[in-house]
Amino acid sequence: MSVEEIIHKRRSVRKFKTDPLTDEQIDKLLNAAQIAPSAGNQQPLEVIVVTEEKERLIEATGRQQFIVDAPVVFIILSNNKDTVNRYKTRGAELYHIQDTAASVQNVLLLAKSMGLDTCWIGAFDESMIKSLFSIPEGVRPVAIIPIAYGDVDPEGPARKDIKEIIYKNNYGDKYY
Ligand SMILES: Cc1cc2nc3c(=O)[nH]c(=O)nc-3n(C[C@H](O)[C@H](O)[C@H](O)COP(=O)(O)O)c2cc1C
Repeated sequence: MSVEEIIHKRRSVRKFKTDPLTDEQIDKLLNAAQIAPSAGNQQPLEVIVVTEEKERLIEATGRQQFIVDAPVVFIILSNNKDTVNRYKTRGAELYHIQDTAASVQNVLLLAKSMGLDTCWIGAFDESMIKSLFSIPEGVRPVAIIPIAYGDVDPEGPARKDIKEIIYKNNYGDKYY
């Protein structure tokens, strides 16, 4: 599949097979996360690869039970110390979130290209996740990604009409 096809075929999948992933598959996905761009290359990304005691995730994600069926779950972390030192408020409020989001999207797209499915999980109790996974002060869990062979092939929800969101040269002037 071309990158364009992968981008368009990726969907949030919420029903997984429990088949295991290989270490090689996991390595590829972690490398994709790490190679994402980051502001000033300050690389706030850290990741916890969860393969054991995944039940910890149930309560903390508001009972998004399907997560536990995935053989591997990445907890995407932002350790923004270097980004904040360099970029101050903009680093703290914006860049490290964008940096780690780029890593998440890399994982979602590479997983799709490898025949795997994912769901970007943002609804979780941060303090619960921090305490359950021994995450220290200064490190923030920003996303959770269950990675698995999907058991459904959803179409996904429709997007807004592109004509309504793209502007030409100035905000409000229609591009299409
Ligand atoms: C920041 C963010 C947080 C999200 N949190 C959740 C979540 O907690 N649970 C969930 O099932 N889906 C979550 N999603 C997935 C969205 O619901 C999904 O991407 C959107 O409905 C579009 O569907 P698609 O991914 O199939 O194209 C999240 C997506 C993003 C980008």
